Amino acid sequence: MEIKTAQFVISNTDVAKCPPPTLPEFAFIGRSNVGKSSLINMLCERKDMAKTSSKPGKTQLINHFIINKNWYLVDLPGYGYAKVSKDLKEKWNSFIEQYLVNRQNLMCVMVLLDSRIPQQKIDLEFMDWLGENEIPFVMVFTKIDKLSKLKISANINSYKNEMGKHWDELPQCFYTSAEKKEGKDELLQFITKANKLFKNL
Ligand code: GTP
Ligand code: MG
Repeated sequence: MEIKTAQFVISNTDVAKCPPPTLPEFAFIGRSNVGKSSLINMLCERKDMAKTSSKPGKTQLINHFIINKNWYLVDLPGYGYAKVSKDLKEKWNSFIEQYLVNRQNLMCVMVLLDSRIPQQKIDLEFMDWLGENEIPFVMVFTKIDKLSKLKISANINSYKNEMGKHWDELPQCFYTSAEKKEGKDELLQFITKANKLFKNL
């Protein structure tokens, strides 16, 4: 897929106020600072479409973008950011959860995982929660440019091993670097295929 147009549509904290669920949708989520907004900009070849920052907690709303006028891409706030207050954390968790559980046109959640570090409890718990709620997801490893290949594959394998302990089948995995523009074609191909399924629903 070639991305011809990518436009911001709306930001909010209420799934009921999201755009009408008439197009297939893909949501990008993961721990704060994992590289969600950077990956979105890399996929769309836009420098600053999704706001990025070296400080965690930059994205705080459900942000809808419309791509090629035929699918939605959603940038979500990160989870697990220790510095926000408990109240704010609970509020975020609740609107993200409402969005994930209730959004009818959500084709797949792209769970971003930082390849610089071994498997984290919070990510494994989040993926278990998606599974329990029958929400389809894939694993997208980010920042693969950062460490040596050997260290990156050790970290990725630690996720796969842990997931393998309680999942019969591993979700599909993608390996990306927003910096080096890696993994773009694979992700866009996956989205193209899923979009075709939406048309057949
Ligand atoms: P929140 O919105 O705060 O949850 O963060 P986010 O997950 O959207 O992360 P963001 O895209 O803002 O990136 C966080 C930091 O990681 C920024 O300083 C980016 O420049 C850096 N970063 C993101 N992707 C990559 C990558 O592929 N390689 C490298 N080296 N750095 C990256
Ligand atoms: Mg962000």
